[in-house]
Amino acid sequence: MKDELQKIKDEILEQLEKITNGEALRELEIKYLGRKGELSRILRSLKELGEKERSEIGNLANTIKNDVTQKFQEIKDKIEGGEQKQGSVDVTLPGEKIKRGHLNPITQIQSELEDVFTSMGFMILDGPELESDYYNFEALNIPKNHPARDMQDTFYIDKKNKAKEYDLVMRTHTSPVQIRALEKHGVPFRGVVPGRVFRSEDLDACHDHTFCQMEGLMVDENISIDNLIAVMKELIKGIFKKEMETRVRPGFFPFVEPGIEMDIRCTICGGKGCPSCKNSGWLELLPAGMVHPNVLKAVGIDPEKYSGFAFGLGLTRLAMMRYKIDDIRLFNSGDLRFLEQF
Ligand code: FA5
Repeated sequence: MKDELQKIKDEILEQLEKITNGEALRELEIKYLGRKGELSRILRSLKELGEKERSEIGNLANTIKNDVTQKFQEIKDKIEGGEQKQGSVDVTLPGEKIKRGHLNPITQIQSELEDVFTSMGFMILDGPELESDYYNFEALNIPKNHPARDMQDTFYIDKKNKAKEYDLVMRTHTSPVQIRALEKHGVPFRGVVPGRVFRSEDLDACHDHTFCQMEGLMVDENISIDNLIAVMKELIKGIFKKEMETRVRPGFFPFVEPGIEMDIRCTICGGKGCPSCKNSGWLELLPAGMVHPNVLKAVGIDPEKYSGFAFGLGLTRLAMMRYKIDDIRLFNSGDLRFLEQF
């Protein structure tokens, strides 16, 4: 048995010399030192020997087991050290620059405006981009076949409602949320609604088919046009941080009475006239007015008791003016060279 033990030890050491990877080492360890391995088999058979022989062979078997276990550990350390070296990182190499994303310029302006309006007690609301004809037009005092529908070239959706009418449109403005907000929250109310709107437009440097607006609405007792002008001024100041040259002129929208429009002096040409402002020196930015009594009635609010103002800011155009972007179509171009400048 002594010879057998010595033979196993020599065999193990010889095979260990040839081992080059962890997988082969584990297999060898199981073969000799595992529960069903060669050495364990001999140790188990000791009980069949006489007392003297058992103690002598037992000592030898344990010594051999300890020696080879130590040898296994040495080889294991060597292999693992090598494997780690292969996958190691050279901390002295120059780092790889991680590309950081950032907010789109429209999102940046939107969140700045949200701060301005929340500081004045307005809530921030959202509404569906796919709207019903009712919310987009009718409840806003624009009945079917009314010529005012021509003011906004509309994408109608090829799907009939239960009454077999073509009723769905991609919303042409954020104004339908005026109705949804009053239906849900009632009066008194103050809120703004940023969002995307869609129009089947002839595209040019200041007209896109998909652009952003921010609707504003305040309804309470004793709201006057003075409140509207004050809020419009606050809005412009909040974004440009300085006085901007603006002009206010009458404007027609069936859901306000009276209606006004605020234009801003074109920041791209300074007012001389360029394609971005259609050579007028001014850009139409902020239409507004006092909420029409018919709109209040449509949501069950008494126009004798309550009054309000509403505005529909051209958010994408505001971003154009703030960052001096001369063509609105760049926003939806998906060109990273454009977006990475902000
Ligand atoms: C409206 O959409 C009204 N809902 C605004 C309103 C709300 C009036 C509340 C009164 C009370 P208008 O169609 O003018 O109005 O559009 C509003 C603003 O959106 C414009 O002043 C302009 O800044 C911007 N805008 C309009 N059409 C485009 C377009 N094709 N591309 C980019 N911006 C546009």
